[in-house]
Amino acid sequence: MASLTVRQLDEALKKRLRLRAARHGRSVEDEVRTILRSAAADEAAFAAAPEPGAPAEPSKPSDPAAKKALLIIGGGIAAYKSLDLIRRLREHGIAVRVVMTDAAQKFITPLSAGALAGEHPYTDLFDTKLELDVGHIRLARDTRMVIVAPATADLMAKMAQGHADDLASAVLLATDRPILLAPAMNPKMWSNKATLRNAAQLRADGVHFVGPNAGEMAESNEAGVGRMAEPLEIAAAAEALLTPSSGALAGLRMIVTSGPTHEPIDPVRYIANRSSGKQGHAIAEAAAAAGANVTLVSGPVQVAPPHGVNVVQIESARDMLAAVEKALPADIAVFAAAVADWRTANNSKEKIKKTGKGTPELALVENPDILATVAHRKSKRPRLVIGFAAETEHVIEHAKAKLARKGCDWILANDVSPETGIMGGDSNTIHLVTKDGVEHWPPQSKNEVATALITRIARTMSGRP
Ligand SMILES: Cc1cc2nc3c(=O)[nH]c(=O)nc-3n(C[C@H](O)[C@H](O)[C@H](O)COP(=O)(O)O)c2cc1C
Repeated sequence: MASLTVRQLDEALKKRLRLRAARHGRSVEDEVRTILRSAAADEAAFAAAPEPGAPAEPSKPSDPAAKKALLIIGGGIAAYKSLDLIRRLREHGIAVRVVMTDAAQKFITPLSAGALAGEHPYTDLFDTKLELDVGHIRLARDTRMVIVAPATADLMAKMAQGHADDLASAVLLATDRPILLAPAMNPKMWSNKATLRNAAQLRADGVHFVGPNAGEMAESNEAGVGRMAEPLEIAAAAEALLTPSSGALAGLRMIVTSGPTHEPIDPVRYIANRSSGKQGHAIAEAAAAAGANVTLVSGPVQVAPPHGVNVVQIESARDMLAAVEKALPADIAVFAAAVADWRTANNSKEKIKKTGKGTPELALVENPDILATVAHRKSKRPRLVIGFAAETEHVIEHAKAKLARKGCDWILANDVSPETGIMGGDSNTIHLVTKDGVEHWPPQSKNEVATALITRIARTMSGRP
């Protein structure tokens, strides 16, 4: 039998495996054993599945505990991977019912999808049998979640606009279950402004995303972001959404801000800072892994959005405040973003030109103070409000003053002088300032800081000292 060590897996997979193992309270090795055991069991079930074309076994919609997912297959070249996805979902103990768009049926046949799912796929909004029997409304509700893979640019556009002119879009509009999208398209299609706008709208509407990943496209000589996430990744993301969390922050709502803000000067220039978003994103991911329902409000960053988190993307400090207030109420708020203190008083609508008459003067006005605004709220103030203090001198003194001034509960202070390499780097040295004193944490990776912070938050929220 071939042997494989965890070390041979790629980094993304190892990270997913570690998170999954932590969620289940197992060692990574035990988690791998569990996955392999379930794969072997599914292999037996797969062998016993009906032949293509055989009458489908009736589904059991009445079992509320069953993990059920409705998989919508869109018309993209990655549709062939959805066949593997059906098997991967079943490995996770998730029963799959399939809806295929007309375009999807140009790429793969309903026969193959049906043979793997154990039930014929649904394809037609105006199928009288379907409408009398299940109906698009029942398809939308008789499931614990809806997965769209591949999510085409077209399906995303329809969802963002609320169209319902075929079975897939009607189901997506009618469902009140969590939706997980696995976009797949040519990189030019993904980076098109219309698609990015639709993706941002869908994220703001609470739709979950997995991928797209960077890599080679099916088309020759094409590479970039747009490749569908691998079936294993999609199945893991689906399981995370389906599994009621038993983590230390289960049942708690948390807001995390991350990254820099961009304050426009004119249409092409802006004031920014060197924040990478690595720390804020790591905190959001660790909180989600601990079971919190996390909204991450992020400025423009290069780091990938964490799994299992609702991401709201913004540009300016004022947008960030609006997004944070929209995400309230929450139990915990962690403000890790490096928000610009100032913006330009007059943001020019046209590009500012050199006139030969000297340099233009940029008048600045103060931005809203997001941490202080939320910490001083009379209503909907999160029970725990945590800020960051990025300082280059007198770190502890400034952090203590900030704690008092802002009215927050904790400040995580760090020295961001260039020689520390913290801004944009992978490690951090934190001093936790509370009204009870200062804790000096050792230098550690930003992921470790995130885990330590979540452990500390969980202790406090459970009332332990
Ligand atoms: C060969 C071929 C490959 C395609 N691949 C993709 C793709 O990967 N992603 C995508 O968004 N659209 C792709 N399209 C375009 C979609 O098939 C088209 O927009 C279709 O209307 C989508 O329908 P649906 O969203 O209802 O499934 C492809 C089209 C063709 C002909």
